[in-house]
Amino acid sequence: MNKVNMGSIRGLFVTGTDTGVGKTIVTAAITAALRAEGLDAGVWKPVQSGALLGSGVTDAERLLQSTGINGRPEAVAPFTFEAPLTPMLAAKHAGVTFTLNELIAAGKPLIKRYEALLIEGAGGVAVPLTDDALVVDLISELHIPALIVARSSLGTINHTLLTASFLRHHEIPIVGVIMNDGELTERHDDPSADTNAELIEQYSGLKVLGRFPRMHTDVNSETLIHTIQKTIQLAPIRQALKFNL
Ligand SMILES: Nc1ncnc2c1ncn2[C@@H]1O[C@H](COP(=O)(O)OP(=O)(O)O)[C@@H](O)[C@H]1O
Ligand SMILES: [Mg+2]
Repeated sequence: MNKVNMGSIRGLFVTGTDTGVGKTIVTAAITAALRAEGLDAGVWKPVQSGALLGSGVTDAERLLQSTGINGRPEAVAPFTFEAPLTPMLAAKHAGVTFTLNELIAAGKPLIKRYEALLIEGAGGVAVPLTDDALVVDLISELHIPALIVARSSLGTINHTLLTASFLRHHEIPIVGVIMNDGELTERHDDPSADTNAELIEQYSGLKVLGRFPRMHTDVNSETLIHTIQKTIQLAPIRQALKFNL
């Protein structure tokens, strides 16, 4: 297989324990906060499925809108498919095939344009991207560390430890875990949310960088920036992106 020569990429891969855990909102908040510090961080969503560009609901469009980055969604997400299926199948439905190398090569303009990139995965680490590659293989090929976004709620210890174990099996460095309260509501009491982070640290040896609170819908980027600065340790993220060397 011919490898695309990309040089070394300054990037952080934002993965999650599942789809819908908050990767997009957390990626947007981190990127917006770094940019507010004057750092030249961009976003890349190598492949997305579930809606077409122009709908306004795709991750690429949400990332641009929430970060205030002035870019084209088709540059942020070069591969977008409508079917709400795993990218490999959604692409097949659209009659498109791509290789891991093609997926990576399509990000080259973004890699050149920004000093460093926050790269949002699709679903979790074991999600099929092509006939012979999972998300974890994309992270491996990019040679960048990963950040895990996890639910704060019951079940998250199992999902987070499995995700960490799979990444480690592929020798991918893990910067830390961000717990997201997105699904916690006042109506459903979940006593596990107070102890999950501590137990994840104990059993994984990973650092939980903080707990992102549940926000109102339609928050602006100023609120996202303020919230992430208040709740999440950003130093390990800046370091992973080599912003403080
Ligand atoms: N902390 C939060 N506060 C409010 N809404 C949230 C929060 N986290 C996630 N959501 C909402 O839940 C849904 C799934 O989050 P999203 O970031 O799209 O997850 P993923 O990218 O992992 O699929 C989105 O509609 C998002 O706006
Ligand atoms: Mg997303």
